[in-house]
Amino acid sequence: MSPLEEAARIIARSRFLVALTGAGISADSGIPTFRGRDGLWSRYRPEDLATPEAFARNPRLVWEWYRWRMEIVFRARPNPGHLALAELERMGLLKCVITQNVDGLHQLAGSRCVVELHGSIRRVRCVSCSYRAELSEPPREIPPRCPRCGSLLRPDVVWFGEPIPRDALEKAFDLCERADAILVIGTSGKVMPAAMLPQIVRSRGGAVVEINIEESDITPIATVFVRGRASEVLPKLVELVRELVGQ
Ligand code: OAD
Ligand code: ZN
Repeated sequence: MSPLEEAARIIARSRFLVALTGAGISADSGIPTFRGRDGLWSRYRPEDLATPEAFARNPRLVWEWYRWRMEIVFRARPNPGHLALAELERMGLLKCVITQNVDGLHQLAGSRCVVELHGSIRRVRCVSCSYRAELSEPPREIPPRCPRCGSLLRPDVVWFGEPIPRDALEKAFDLCERADAILVIGTSGKVMPAAMLPQIVRSRGGAVVEINIEESDITPIATVFVRGRASEVLPKLVELVRELVGQ
């Protein structure tokens, strides 16, 4: 049996399947990954940009970087990988997507249950008051200011050294404690606590199905490793699952 067929069987007979996604699932939507050869951070040092200290030191620089990322994200469309996950949810198999991505493409693809561990680049919030807003385009003025109190606005994302929003983290742990299978797609598995989630499923006897173009830090605990691009593997996987469950 090929790894793809094995993955399809695990998914078809699962009772509570969840997915953990990383930058790799959005790579084929044109959004650069973080740690690849042409990853964002091969050109920029994360500690210069994605930290509260960096923002305090130089909000303009951090905002220039986010404006550039926002321009890419607002132009991007979901790819067949995102669409396949939305389809698995409609088929009643996939219970929720837990994502480290901040691009909102799972929701645009039609996924209804999405847990955003690292926030969203489509939102801003005030550093001083409770003001929050959805964006439909990158801010024109850099750095943008709060319309309520005049303080700086920041992207509503999680930076290095900051905690994951509590409700998202609780939901992710709860899902993984209930899951008997997890699809791990396009993540290097280098950032905690996301990287712990497959381990939770595995330690309770669940299956870990990994899809990635190369081996990751999750691969040693994977039940099945399917090598390939998420945008190509996931649609094929859903077709095989459909044959197995007769939908
Ligand atoms: P990384 O950039 O660390 O890893 C991307 C992974 O996707 C790698 O394992 C690649 O092999 C794989 N990949 C690339 N293209 C792919 C494709 N077409 N199909 C399948 N896999 C592909 O990204 P993440 O693991 O998401 O956090 O990084 C985790 C977190 O690190 C990010 O959310 C971000 C960063 O710090 C914050 O900003 C808080
Ligand atoms: Zn404010």
